[in-house]
Amino acid sequence: MAKPKLIAGNWKMNGSKADIDTWAAHIFAGEAGATAKKLLPGVSDSENKAEILLCPPAILLDHTGKALKTTGVKWGGQDCHAEASGAHTGDISTGMLKEMGCTYAIVGHSERRQNHGETSENVANKARAVHAAGLVAIICVGETDDERTSGKAEDIVTGQLKNSIPDTATPENTVVAYEPVWAIGTGKVASAEDIAQMHGIIRDSVTKQVGDGVRLLYGGSVKVANAPEILHTPNVDGVLVGGASLKAEEFQAIALAAQKGAKAV
Ligand code: PGA
Repeated sequence: MAKPKLIAGNWKMNGSKADIDTWAAHIFAGEAGATAKKLLPGVSDSENKAEILLCPPAILLDHTGKALKTTGVKWGGQDCHAEASGAHTGDISTGMLKEMGCTYAIVGHSERRQNHGETSENVANKARAVHAAGLVAIICVGETDDERTSGKAEDIVTGQLKNSIPDTATPENTVVAYEPVWAIGTGKVASAEDIAQMHGIIRDSVTKQVGDGVRLLYGGSVKVANAPEILHTPNVDGVLVGGASLKAEEFQAIALAAQKGAKAV
């Protein structure tokens, strides 16, 4: 059966408990007992066209879980450690994410690769830990501006896929997010042609590695204005939204655009 499109918000290092409350109240219009299904029609029924996910900072996951429980909106981690436990000050394990009610964890975001020196091998180990905990890994890949202008985008992305996706990956426990680094937080969006081309390449590569039916997300300056076109681009099965996910109104509009779209893979 076709999977619903996945609309994922990544708050990065932003937000507070109060912001979560404001966001949830807006999404559900503050109605007592309102469900995501009602206000974001289709969110959690079998005919749905969009699955909604929020990835706040880890320290807000407990609060997020309480705010979103019973709504149909899911929550997940932005990163995790590859080990199940141990002497890793400041890190968070996939078991801890699971205990907070997470169903997804992002791994290999370019900000982790750049700011923390994470390699694709590190990312694969993290994804393996996500799978072992029974969560879905959103594995991020994407080329830098220099890599694109020097014609290396395809090689970089296929290399990252090859080395970041572990042998534990299945179409059910893995989502791949293509996020060109030059489009993240810059307001520059890849053109529909560029997205279609790269997603076609990613589809071929991921199908060989994992099989059919892995959802492919696009990320990088996604907002209400460009979401409908991006969500209708071939091989785009959802979006990973940073800045625009902080504003409930924007995020809701993006989710609604997805629900008007076709089904994912
Ligand atoms: P952005 O971030 O939407 O703010 O560009 C996307 C991301 O990094 O996931």
